[in-house]
Amino acid sequence: MKVDVLLGLQWGDEGKGKVVDFLAPKYEVVARFQGGPNAGHTLEFDGHKHVLHQIPSGIFRENIKNIIGNGVVLDPVIFKKEIEGLAHFNIDLKKNLFISKKTQLILPSHKLLDAAYEKSKGKNKIGSTLKGIGPSYQDKVARNGLRVGDILAPGFEARYRNLVAKHENTLSHYDFDYNLTEAEAPFFEAIDFLKGFNLVNSEYLVNQSIRSSKTVLAEGAQGSLLDVDFGSYPYVTSSNTMTAGACTGLGVAPRNIGEVFGIFKAYCTRVGGGPFPTELFDQTGEEMQKEGNEFGATTGRPRRCGWLDLPALKYAIMINGVSQLFMMKADVLSIFEEIKVCTHYKLGDGSITEEMPFQLMDEEITPVYKILKGWNTDVRNLNEYDSLPVELKDYISFIEKETGVPVTIVSVGPDRKETVLR
Ligand code: GDP
Ligand code: IMO
Ligand code: MG
Repeated sequence: MKVDVLLGLQWGDEGKGKVVDFLAPKYEVVARFQGGPNAGHTLEFDGHKHVLHQIPSGIFRENIKNIIGNGVVLDPVIFKKEIEGLAHFNIDLKKNLFISKKTQLILPSHKLLDAAYEKSKGKNKIGSTLKGIGPSYQDKVARNGLRVGDILAPGFEARYRNLVAKHENTLSHYDFDYNLTEAEAPFFEAIDFLKGFNLVNSEYLVNQSIRSSKTVLAEGAQGSLLDVDFGSYPYVTSSNTMTAGACTGLGVAPRNIGEVFGIFKAYCTRVGGGPFPTELFDQTGEEMQKEGNEFGATTGRPRRCGWLDLPALKYAIMINGVSQLFMMKADVLSIFEEIKVCTHYKLGDGSITEEMPFQLMDEEITPVYKILKGWNTDVRNLNEYDSLPVELKDYISFIEKETGVPVTIVSVGPDRKETVLR
């Protein structure tokens, strides 16, 4: 079987965790392919609300192999805490969780570097989650990094010291106070804890699954507009969040990619800095934030809100080869009598375009909106597509017509059950 990919098409937090958990019973393997604990994937079921950072969102379903792929960066301390938080669910982690030996480690000093870099940027800071993501990927590409498999080899601590010395040298050039020692004991405790898990060459596991006709779902983190190549650089994360990232982050050949599920909110949000053409600074934006409970699952920061941005959505669909769209949080727009959708950008020189400019930040962009009638009625208890209000179905048809891609799931609430299949 080919590998299906599920990824966010906006600036993250589209609802990937909810949908992976919803789809997981159809899959035998769920694999994270990039990102790290900057991700916060929320799952709600049976009255539980659970946020996952490092562990794939198939973990609550029985008999599914969950893989943390080589493209991921792993913080052992956060991993340990997350595993401990799962204790009362009685999950057989020996059977259900596999970690690539090639996964890069996040060291405590990576987090210090993240904070030092951000501080030095002043008002131009990225708004990083400060989980050490950028510095860990930086070491990977610079060929200095330590990987999960390295913890099993003798001399790990010496290699750790060697890398930390490099980090401390870098930190000495920044105006930044820190205490690394206090973070080291929990780190080494977590490294020992990590040794008790299935540390594997996960590319074999994934490809054996493909060959033996097992179903595999690759779970993206962040979103396409945060992709290091195609996102709103430099206000991006440090990995490839797109379909191609699933190939490099798991060892899947492009011809073995099947469906690409692109997930988007019925509006837009962004947390952290960076350009956001349809951002609302008025009461409508505040209402969206309140109704959508738009606060970051990892950092608790308020998420900036705005209307759906079609040029950006079409761009994300293009670079990912999206074959099905899933629209999330339709219930949040129920409070509005009319709904706006940005169809084009008007640039500073007066020209109108559907293309994403090279540097969003430097462009003076005025969104051109189409106004649609809102449904203005509670949709949270509806679970048949036909029972959805006609205005919501019109909104969906409009998006399908504009993008040329079918919307096959409509999410109308945070719970697993609040999902309408088409
Ligand atoms: P992820 O990072 O893409 O997994 O998304 P997050 O978990 O960070 O943020 C999505 C938030 O929206 C979470 O609090 C979810 O519980 C919630 N959510 C997901 N789908 C829906 C939906 O259809 N309606 C509402 N109201 N909330 C949703
Ligand atoms: P999930 O998987 C939303 C944002 C940060 C910051 C930028 C860089 O839950 O959708 P980083 O910590 O990677 O250096 O931060 O990217 N960001 C996210 N925003 N959802 C996420 O993940 C994010 N992961 C990173 O806010 O602007
Ligand atoms: Mg999130």
